[in-house]
Amino acid sequence: MKILVVGGGGREHALVWKLKQSPRVEKIWCAPGNGGISQDAECIPVDAGDVPALVNLAERLRPDLTVVGPELPLVNGISDAFAVRKWPIVGPSRMAAQLEGSKVFSKEFLVRHSIPTAKMYGSFDSAETAYAALANVSWPLVIKADGLCAGKGVVLAANADEAREFIARAMEENELGPGGHRVLLEEVLEGEELSFIILTDGERSSPMVPTRDHKRVFDGNEGPNTGGMGAYSSDQLLPASLRETVLSTIVEPTLRGLAAEGIPYQGFLYVGLMLTTEGPKVLEFNCRLGDPEAQAIVARMDFDLAELLADVAAKRLNRSDLRWKNGASVCLVLTSGGYPGKFETGKRIDGLTGIEHNTGVQIFHSGTKHLGDLLVTNGGRVLGVTSAAPSLEEALSMAYKAAAGIRFENMHYRKDIGAAPGRQKAVAN
Ligand code: AMP
Ligand code: GLY
Repeated sequence: MKILVVGGGGREHALVWKLKQSPRVEKIWCAPGNGGISQDAECIPVDAGDVPALVNLAERLRPDLTVVGPELPLVNGISDAFAVRKWPIVGPSRMAAQLEGSKVFSKEFLVRHSIPTAKMYGSFDSAETAYAALANVSWPLVIKADGLCAGKGVVLAANADEAREFIARAMEENELGPGGHRVLLEEVLEGEELSFIILTDGERSSPMVPTRDHKRVFDGNEGPNTGGMGAYSSDQLLPASLRETVLSTIVEPTLRGLAAEGIPYQGFLYVGLMLTTEGPKVLEFNCRLGDPEAQAIVARMDFDLAELLADVAAKRLNRSDLRWKNGASVCLVLTSGGYPGKFETGKRIDGLTGIEHNTGVQIFHSGTKHLGDLLVTNGGRVLGVTSAAPSLEEALSMAYKAAAGIRFENMHYRKDIGAAPGRQKAVAN
């Protein structure tokens, strides 16, 4: 098999690393890839959001399978473009990707199919109507920009002043771009969050191991939201009875609802859950694997990922053959100091030589690139130190020990990945 992976973050590095282990895989390209992926695949500098350029690339390379990491190409319709050409691809259609691309679409879908989620007060296309609606809500309130906003589109407002400020930034000052021109208001859910990701071919589905992401930049869930500072997976994260509830009240009705509406879903579906005292409820859908959840999931895979994804693309998923390593896994994200705000790049990264061999971890690169003989930082999230072990404690100890040997100027990471979250603060202000 020759495989094209679309994307250039830690998630894609983990996918490439795992795909490469398959005896069936003879070649992997990655567009655009990064400084770590280039050790495992041939990187091609094509923008991951540029569907016409990716179609041209696939026309030239003729991969047997294309695997899409990030949401942008999916929301831009890469799957539809490949489907008309009968090119095998893993990733949902543009229509199905609206589950992530439009929070109003996704909320209305959840309501139509009676799937548990936060109550919506309404959705609004103008700042005036949104301001007026604030008279009839309970506080605190969650406000969400409808479209893709690179993680900046959700806010927890304690009172009407905070709510008006966010609405003004999104709807009057255009700070979030087109994604912020429509907002929805919903109730706050309390509990612990869980990422439950499934892989489906439209008919059958296989759950991945459950994971938990740490979104805030600082220990104790302080500071602004990021793309994810770390994730872990463990056998203890989701008890069997709760897993059954998630499958029967959320996953199955979601897949049935999509099929019934004529939008069959193929690829990874990320269900972001809040485990509330009333049971699990949907916070959000993403049309892809999470990052860094994917790194923690891949670390526990004990099966041939290339074969599995080829089956999904061919619509012949056999859910019985997924084997997972018992125990736990961790992905600890090392970031540039300042992220998710302003940060500098181009810092030399030291300490990686021999680290995987010496410590048993995998280093998945996010924002790195080669500059001559040097490896330098090239983004906010830089590296994902990833480990798997029989227990969460062991996995954490391996990851932290390895991280202590890595150095770049202003390097930052959370010291409490995998810690019991207690009552998580919902969203950044
Ligand atoms: P979303 O983009 O919808 O995933 O929201 C980003 C983050 O905001 C989630 O991971 C949660 O931490 C938080 N969040 C979203 N909706 C709610 C809600 N209704 N109640 C509490 N927290 C929420
Ligand atoms: N880590 C959260 C996400 O990928 O959306």
